Amino acid sequence: MEEYDYFIELIRKETFFAPGIIGVHVLNNMTFMKTAIIYASSHGTTEKVARQIQDGLGADSASLINLKETRTVDLSLFDTLIIGGSIHAGQMQGRVRTFCKKNMVELLQKRVGLFMVGMNEPEFETEFNNAFPELLRNHAITSKCVGGEFLFEKMNFIEKLIVRKVSGINTSISKINEDKIAELVNDVKGK
Ligand SMILES: Cc1cc2nc3c(=O)[nH]c(=O)nc-3n(C[C@H](O)[C@H](O)[C@H](O)COP(=O)(O)O)c2cc1C
Repeated sequence: MEEYDYFIELIRKETFFAPGIIGVHVLNNMTFMKTAIIYASSHGTTEKVARQIQDGLGADSASLINLKETRTVDLSLFDTLIIGGSIHAGQMQGRVRTFCKKNMVELLQKRVGLFMVGMNEPEFETEFNNAFPELLRNHAITSKCVGGEFLFEKMNFIEKLIVRKVSGINTSISKINEDKIAELVNDVKGK
């Protein structure tokens, strides 16, 4: 018991000396966050999916990290990393691609899950392969393309034109694949 209290105190100190540090949270004085969902989102759909994954894992057991807001992530705080982003004009956000490349060595020593948000289903495999490096794809315990949304109210003029021209769709539509999200959650939970 003494050892346990000492450990809790150490964690508290670390949080005190490094305010804002992501990943170390004392939950009910006994559970520690060890999973991070790291993502980038242009119109909010990947963020929505990231939250669904977080809910699926149990909201208290996973941290959400938006790469738009957080530049440096201390990966040593996590043993499982779920990384995702969305496809725009065939490419995933540069932030996600850079994050994976920059942290490759450390990522290969963690449990990694990958997910991609997109609307062009026939291209999913190609888009996914372009989005994540081969080493990471081979290492991942789960990889899912989870569909996406066209949110016209969030698009600028040019984006609306592109989406109308390429897809023929001109109203907001949601095609998030809940089954794929559930599969990813189960894979991460080890079910
Ligand atoms: C301008 C534009 C281009 C897009 N291009 C692609 C594409 O090349 N392939 C694809 O699968 N989805 C494409 N999409 C669909 C997005 O991936 C989808 O809207 C996704 O839900 C966006 O997620 P986010 O809000 O997290 O960025 C495009 C969407 C927009 C608005």
